[in-house]
Amino acid sequence: MSDTGNRIVVERRDTLQIVRMNRPEKKNAITRAMYAAMAAALVSADADASVRCHVMFGVPGAFSAGNDIADFMAVATGGEGGREVFDFLMALARLEKPLVTAADGIAVGIGTTIHLHADLTFATSRTVFSTPFVDLGLVPEAGSSLLVPRILGSQRAFAMLGLGEGLPAADAAAAGLISAVVDEDELEPAALAAAERIAAKPPQALRIARDFLRGDRTELVARIEAEGRAFRERLTSDEARQAFMAFMSRGKGA
Ligand code: COA
Repeated sequence: MSDTGNRIVVERRDTLQIVRMNRPEKKNAITRAMYAAMAAALVSADADASVRCHVMFGVPGAFSAGNDIADFMAVATGGEGGREVFDFLMALARLEKPLVTAADGIAVGIGTTIHLHADLTFATSRTVFSTPFVDLGLVPEAGSSLLVPRILGSQRAFAMLGLGEGLPAADAAAAGLISAVVDEDELEPAALAAAERIAAKPPQALRIARDFLRGDRTELVARIEAEGRAFRERLTSDEARQAFMAFMSRGKGA
């Protein structure tokens, strides 16, 4: 097991690589260092013949509360940032090996859009997938503006990505956004069992089958890039700055 700053814990279990986000006190809000560690882990395991399947976990109650808003604020006020999340998204979109994800509870922003790149996602009944990008003065990312309408249809995609309406796990499963809803104590065992089933398949045949299922990724990569340009511009907008300030000053002076 390797430990990258303790916030991203990377474990090899036989032919699986498990990446766990581990920042429970901040509901797994993802920092630049966490994106960098996850991108590196995904890229290296994808190139490692001894790995057959990627797995991503959060912590009980929180897959992820999305991008760290203090990091957003840093960019909004002229600081560095953005490269790490972009590298992580590209690593996800370009994976050659299957990805299994498991979400319990909070799944906000990129905590939802990660699953669009997964081959199988398991979630608990208390999980709600939510993408409040517009409420934050931002725009959809991770290719979600392309992938969500394909899965949900344009109107439910608008409700989710335009209006920020949450999608409970049961509805996400019914719509085909995720694979199954399971009990909380069965979440990680179910995801690991699925990953082991994947890992036991003939890898070359599975890779070709998966390539056909995913289709040509040129359009997806181009969309992630275009969304990224718009997202970066929006980060320095007044709308976004105000939303970040409102979140960061919650409860203060009340
Ligand atoms: N960035 C930075 N910190 C975050 C965070 C984020 N995205 N999400 C949660 N946190 C922090 C909170 O500020 C809080 O820190 P504190 O204890 O130092 O005050 C801690 O994590 C716990 O969060 P809290 O809001 O108390 O938990 P909750 O269960 O009541 O609510 C959420 C959880 C996810 C609904 C709420 O934290 C939230 O709305 N977060 C922002 C989500 C978001 O907009 N993400 C960006 C998407 S693009």
